[in-house]
Amino acid sequence: MNKKLIITGGNKLCGDIIPSGSKNSALACIAAASLPEDGSTVILKNVPHISDTVIMCQIVRMLGKQVSFCNNTIAISGTFQNCTIPPAITKQLRSSLYFLGVLLTCKQEISCGFPGGDQIGTRPIDIHVDALSNMGVHFHNTADIISAKAPHRLKGQSIYLKYPSVVATCNIIIAASKADGKTIIINAAREPEIVDLCNLLTKMGICITGAGTECITIYGSNHIHGNIEHEIIPDRIETGTLAIISVLTRGNVTIRNCIPPHNIALLSLLSSIGTEVTIEEEHIHLTPSDTLKPFQASMTPYPGLATDLQPLLAILATQANGTSTITDFVFPERFQYMNELQNMGAQMEKHLNSLILFGNSKLKGNKVTGNDIRAVTALICAGLIAKGTTEIDGLYHLYRGYPDLEQKLMHLGANITIA
Ligand code: EPU
Repeated sequence: MNKKLIITGGNKLCGDIIPSGSKNSALACIAAASLPEDGSTVILKNVPHISDTVIMCQIVRMLGKQVSFCNNTIAISGTFQNCTIPPAITKQLRSSLYFLGVLLTCKQEISCGFPGGDQIGTRPIDIHVDALSNMGVHFHNTADIISAKAPHRLKGQSIYLKYPSVVATCNIIIAASKADGKTIIINAAREPEIVDLCNLLTKMGICITGAGTECITIYGSNHIHGNIEHEIIPDRIETGTLAIISVLTRGNVTIRNCIPPHNIALLSLLSSIGTEVTIEEEHIHLTPSDTLKPFQASMTPYPGLATDLQPLLAILATQANGTSTITDFVFPERFQYMNELQNMGAQMEKHLNSLILFGNSKLKGNKVTGNDIRAVTALICAGLIAKGTTEIDGLYHLYRGYPDLEQKLMHLGANITIA
C-alpha cells in the first residue's frame, strides 16, 4: 500500500461525527481477553479496525488461540499452544509488550522480540522488566529477544512505578490478575484506557480497586473466565483530533457518542483560546472564534493534555494571533514533524522539550511525509488549512491508529482525494 492523500485546503468542516473505539484501550483489552484458558469466549465490541488491532489478533492466533474480527467485534477463545513471538511481528507495535504479562501468567518460559511502535523518542522497557522481576520473573534478554522464565506462579507484590507509564501499568495489571495474592501498583497511570481494561477484567472475575487513581490494587485469581462481552470506550485522541480540526478550519462540528470528561484538559485549552465549547452528556459542540489567542501548553500524563495531541496543537499554534509555547514532558523528542511543517511555511523554534511557535503563519500546500500516527495526522490538519494542495505520504502510520479518518473528514466537508 503506497497511497497518498491529496488535500485542497480552505474548507470549513461542519456537521456531526462519531469517533471510533479507543485504539490504546482496544490493544490492552485484546491482550487481556486472551487470558482465560478454560475454553470460554471473550467478546470485545467497538474495536477500531486498524492495523494495530489486526496485528494484535495475529499474535493471539500465532500463540494458538481462535480469534475472529469482523464488524468491529473481536471474539477470542481457546488455549495457548506456543509461547514465542518473533521480532518481525513484535517490532510492529509497542503493545506487543502486553504478551509478556499475558504469557508469563501461564507459561514457565517465554521469548518475544522487543516491541516497536512510533519513533517518538526513547522508549525503554525497564519499568516492565523491573515490575515483572519483582513478581518472580527472571529475564535473560539479548539484543533482539526478551527471554523470561517464571518457574513459579507470579507473586502479587507492592510495585512502585518510577513513572506512571501507560503500557507498563496495563501490563502489570494483566500479569497481576492471575498472580498469587494481591498486587498494589503505586504511582500507576490514570488514563481512561486503564479504567477500561480494569472494567473488562472485573467482568472476567478479577477484583480490582482504585482504577483511574495512582494506586491500583489487583487481587489475583485462578478463576479468570470469559463468556462475557465488553464494549471499548470511544477514542479520546480521535475525539480531540476532531475537536482541534473543527477549531482550525473555523468550522462547526458536533462530536457525538464521546466521553467529554476524557478530553477536559483539551476542551479547557480550546475554550481559553476563544472557542465556544458546549458539552452535553455524550456530545461536544465547538464554535470557534475568528481569532485564536496564543497559548502555553504542557503535555503531561492524564488528566493533563495528551502527548498524542501535541503535534496537532502545534498546528493550532501556527494559526494563533501571537507566540505560543508547547512543552512535551511525556515524550520530550516528539517533534519529528517539525521540518515538514516548516516546509509548509510555519515559523517555529525548538528548545529542549519545547516548541516556540510564532503564530499567524500562512501555510502553503507542499509534498510532506508523516513519520508516526500523530505526526501524519498533524500534517493532514495543516493541509486542511493550507493554501493550495498538500500531498501527504506516510499513510501507513495513519491506518495504524485511525479507522477511516479521511472518510470522516470528507463527510464533514474536507476536500480530500486518495491517490
Ligand atoms: N518509559 C520508561 N520506561 C518504561 C516505559 C516508559 O522510561 O519502561 C518512559 C518513556 O520513555 C516515556 C514515558 O515513560 O518518556 C511515557 O511512556 P509510556 O510508557 O506512558 O508510554 P507507552 O505506554 O509506551 C502509551 C500509548 C502511547 C501514548 C503514551 C502516553 C499505547 C500502546 N501507547 O505508550 O500512544 O503516547 O502511552 O500517553 O497505549 C499513540 O497512540 O500515538 C501512542 C504513541
